[in-house]
Amino acid sequence: MARAKPVIAIDGPAGAGKSTVAHRVAQTLDFVLVDTGALYRGVALAAREAAVEWSDGPGLARLTQGLDFAFASDARGVPRLLIDGVDRADEIRTPEISMGASHVSKHPEVRAALLDLQRRLGCEGGVVLEGRDIGTVVFPDAEAKVFLTADPRTRAQRRVSDLRGRGLEADLESTLREVRERDQQDSHRPVAPLKPALDAIELDSSGMTIDQVVETIVELVRKLRTS
Ligand code: DC
Repeated sequence: MARAKPVIAIDGPAGAGKSTVAHRVAQTLDFVLVDTGALYRGVALAAREAAVEWSDGPGLARLTQGLDFAFASDARGVPRLLIDGVDRADEIRTPEISMGASHVSKHPEVRAALLDLQRRLGCEGGVVLEGRDIGTVVFPDAEAKVFLTADPRTRAQRRVSDLRGRGLEADLESTLREVRERDQQDSHRPVAPLKPALDAIELDSSGMTIDQVVETIVELVRKLRTS
């Protein structure tokens, strides 16, 4: 059945600007924003607390099935992850949990355990989902698919500013190494590797301002509505 409002998939590597862009696009169109990376981060955090290894796929899946994930919006409309009713949005943003999320997301069992939830969060449309496999796996029928990239150094610089902006320590060269390591892991895993959907629009944000990227995506969605 056709959805009354579109699903917008924004996929791409870490630091391409997905979060900022997805937030601005959702605000402009008055759509709900779903940050799917936060769910993988939540699994990594919960696993560390429950002493489940990030390499233990079946153990992680069992843990995931017992967790209650939800999103609450902050005053600016940014989604904050709640696990079992507790706000964990800040704790999932450390470099350690970023790396953990990349590890746990390699396991097909974990991806399967998060699939239904992601589909439920988006099924009514009027939603922007940002992640790695939204256009390829979660919503292959999304009305608008964008694959957002930027060169690794630009992405590392953005991540450093973001971490420093939140009062955390960050160093450019080690962040660049992390960005490359995560790219390698995310695009070479056998299950749902990071790659553009065949019908995705690829946008390289390195030489673009946030406004330009947002405008391009909003235009794309407006054209859908009139076609
Ligand atoms: O977007 P992010 O940095 O918050 O994502 C954290 C990790 O989760 C990232 O290394 C890849 C993984 N991820 C994924 O595999 N699939 C998604 N849809 C979203 C994130």
